[in-house]
Amino acid sequence: MIRSIVLGSGSYLPEKIVTNADLSATVDTSDEWIRTRTGICERRFAAEGEKTSDLAFRAARAALDAARIGAQDIDLIVCATTTPDETFPAVATMVQARLGMTRGAAFDVQAVCSGFVFALAVADNFIRTGTVKRALVIGADCMSRLMDWNDRTTCVLFGDGAGAVVLAADEGAGDSRDRGILATAIFSDGRMHDLLYVDGGPSSTGTTGHLRMQGKEVFRHAVNNIASSMEAAAKAAGVAISDVDWFVPHQANQRILDGIAKKLGIDEAKVVSTLALQGNTSAASVPLALTAAVADGRVKPGDLLLLEALGGGFAWGAALLRW
Ligand code: UT7
Repeated sequence: MIRSIVLGSGSYLPEKIVTNADLSATVDTSDEWIRTRTGICERRFAAEGEKTSDLAFRAARAALDAARIGAQDIDLIVCATTTPDETFPAVATMVQARLGMTRGAAFDVQAVCSGFVFALAVADNFIRTGTVKRALVIGADCMSRLMDWNDRTTCVLFGDGAGAVVLAADEGAGDSRDRGILATAIFSDGRMHDLLYVDGGPSSTGTTGHLRMQGKEVFRHAVNNIASSMEAAAKAAGVAISDVDWFVPHQANQRILDGIAKKLGIDEAKVVSTLALQGNTSAASVPLALTAAVADGRVKPGDLLLLEALGGGFAWGAALLRW
């Protein structure tokens, strides 16, 4: 059975650090409120002129270096983003050009904060059907560009960043001891549009628009939907949640991570959290957390990882993979 194994991962954070205290200078908020309600202490913002493709390119370059392969060895780039440089073309094609990759295909996936999990599912299916041998999967967003700075309920939550993994086809036995992606489970429910959306776009207002969120409602759905998609992925792979070594969640709110851990009986020490220093980086948050846990030695070869996310749409899902 063909499996998609991870050859390497990489990430990039813009240099500019914005602390809660920095935000409090211009927004009616406080370090105490943000810290206790979300777990966020600071986040990174892209510099003026720095674009999503710049972040995505740097993360992609780092992932290729970690995988020790060149861009010409890649057959497919799938980039998850909600904040493309331009309405078209895809950020993935901009990264393709900058990497010097002149073959294969590159396109974007739009599933907002769950984009990386969706992009991983797309690339995994291309690999498992034998269509491509190696894929670069990127999650990159400049969420700071979608903020309404007069809306304190949203503008304190988000940050910018990018993360990426290189996937390659490998022969597995077809059971849960295989390396690589063991299962993905993705879902969406378009009826939830009004709870989380951007109030602009090329075919409506002709503007970029700002992010709008009914936070409390999103919070309520997040814990339940994410937990059930994690259970669906575990069931599809034939493993128990208790077998998982590391949970690599989308970073929206520390209280959501704690709620899911409690609901599924997960030891909090197994949950990778980057919220404090990065905030919510949308499609970048899962690969940023993954790369952090690999870099500091927590994730070791053979470990079982459960990735999950929920975002606008709603779109949500989980992916189970053995490192
Ligand atoms: O990544 C996509 C998925 N997104 C999520 O999963 C986000 C899910 N939602 C959340 O994380 C939380 O709902 C928030 C962090 C957005 C909000 O936390 P909350 O505990 O649900 O707060 P709330 O919206 O119920 O607001 C509580 C109070 C309100 O004041 P009153 O009405 O009680 O007087 C707000 O006006 O906190 C006030 N408030 C703030 N105060 C200081 C809201 N935002 C702020 C702020 N600073 N930034």
